[in-house]
Amino acid sequence: MRCLSPPPLAAEGQGGGQRASSEPVGGPPPRPSSASGGGRNVRRVPLVLVAAIAENGVIGRAGGLPWRLRTDLKRFRALTTGHPVVMGRRTYLSIGKPLKDRTNIVITRDPHFAAAGVVVASSLETALEVAEGDALRRGAAAIVVGGGAGIYSRTIKMAARLEITRVHVRPEGDTVFPEIDPAQWREAARQDFAAGPGDDAPFTTLTYERRGG
Ligand SMILES: NC(=O)c1ccc[n+]([C@@H]2O[C@H](COP(=O)([O-])OP(=O)(O)OC[C@H]3O[C@@H](n4cnc5c(N)ncnc54)[C@H](OP(=O)(O)O)[C@@H]3O)[C@@H](O)[C@H]2O)c1
Repeated sequence: MRCLSPPPLAAEGQGGGQRASSEPVGGPPPRPSSASGGGRNVRRVPLVLVAAIAENGVIGRAGGLPWRLRTDLKRFRALTTGHPVVMGRRTYLSIGKPLKDRTNIVITRDPHFAAAGVVVASSLETALEVAEGDALRRGAAAIVVGGGAGIYSRTIKMAARLEITRVHVRPEGDTVFPEIDPAQWREAARQDFAAGPGDDAPFTTLTYERRGG
């Protein structure tokens, strides 16, 4: 199993929720957010999108996953521990609690949204700035983008790497991953897995790297 950075770091910011400013997590007390963020496209810390995708592109159904894949949940934990993880409010609610040993950055336009143990950001740009500060402070090698659909679509153009689990099912669903354009992405690693205990289907893990990146 490949890790994105040095060994897992102790969780911080899990005692209570925070609303994001652009200060690194754990830095000075948060200022009120400008809500708009900076919109930079050039990042000092690479973005890595981590997703499990069915053969028909589906990633979600009715606010949850259309499959049970215990082995992939372990892979997700191994890939993301110690990193800032950026996700949309619905993805956060589908998980139901902060991911342990990771800085959880939840994007929402709802100014009243708060959850213990997560940093709330009012835009993608603010979330990425907070994530970058957090990664630099922790020495994490990447910012993880954990979905959902709109956030994957907006970040795939900035990402350096995709860590994809291709689930060998074709379920009905309401949430899909954007196209992985072979002109942009080269397959760097692939491993096939039979369905193990707690897995609904066989799957293949794939690492894509940006061509010319
Ligand atoms: N298979 C996988 O790897 C995977 C990964 C992630 C998620 N999922 C699945 O996907 C589904 C959830 O994804 P989703 O696409 O429906 O929702 P989502 O992206 O997780 O959350 C959408 C919400 O995020 C906020 N948001 C998104 N973009 C924003 C922006 N630019 N500025 C401010 N706020 C923004 C909004 O929250 P407010 O409405 O509060 O303003 C929006 O309603 C679930 O079924 C989940 O299980 C699957």
